[in-house]
Amino acid sequence: MERLDKVLSNLGYGSRKEIKALVKKGEVEVNNVIIKDSSIKIDPEVDVITVSGEKVNYRKYIYIMMNKPSGVVSATYDNYDETVIDLLDFEYLAFEPFPVGRLDKDTVGLLLLTNDGKLNHRLISPKHHVDKIYYAEIDKKVDQKDIDAFEKGIVLEDGYKCMPAKLEILNSDENGSEVRVTIQEGKFHQIKRMFEIRDKKVVYLKRIAFGPLQLDEKLSEGKYRELSENEINLLKNV
Ligand code: URA
Repeated sequence: MERLDKVLSNLGYGSRKEIKALVKKGEVEVNNVIIKDSSIKIDPEVDVITVSGEKVNYRKYIYIMMNKPSGVVSATYDNYDETVIDLLDFEYLAFEPFPVGRLDKDTVGLLLLTNDGKLNHRLISPKHHVDKIYYAEIDKKVDQKDIDAFEKGIVLEDGYKCMPAKLEILNSDENGSEVRVTIQEGKFHQIKRMFEIRDKKVVYLKRIAFGPLQLDEKLSEGKYRELSENEINLLKNV
């Protein structure tokens, strides 16, 4: 059981003081009964709450898919740069979501945000072998030797040996290449550093899939949406 004002406040309906005022005005009902005291205890999983006649959609966790734009950092707070959290509507902030793993400031594409710490841990742990798929543009010709080196596991400049990665060539000539890369871990600047070792530079990087989820092409850069029940279940089963 939880206090009604706490539940509503966590869902973004305002401060406890504001909720007290709403209750006083008779705007809040629990199981079709107008409530007089905002501190009563309720079971948010069972009790039906309405505010100003609208049913409250109770949830403890939120799960968001964002198409991250370039120039924004994947952090909850930053002294200088805009963060992915700054792009969210006020109603989501009460849930205190955080990004699942990180994309570089100049990387675009699929970023998940949630306040479900357990799922976050599962998704970013290399132990669980969750595929992260990227589309990349490279400044030089990429060939079979690069594919083989990625498959064997690139040793980064600091001596770390990456897990085997899948490199697929979509297009490649002397002017540059378009490739798809699948990795299961997320070391800092990993794909850029893997190509550096092969003496090549990543000039554009976009994450197009995270485990079972593909980037929703309807989301333009900077836009986001909540995951469906089905998508959340797919993630929980990876
Ligand atoms: N690899 C990178 O180099 N950068 C990213 O943002 C993600 C993977």
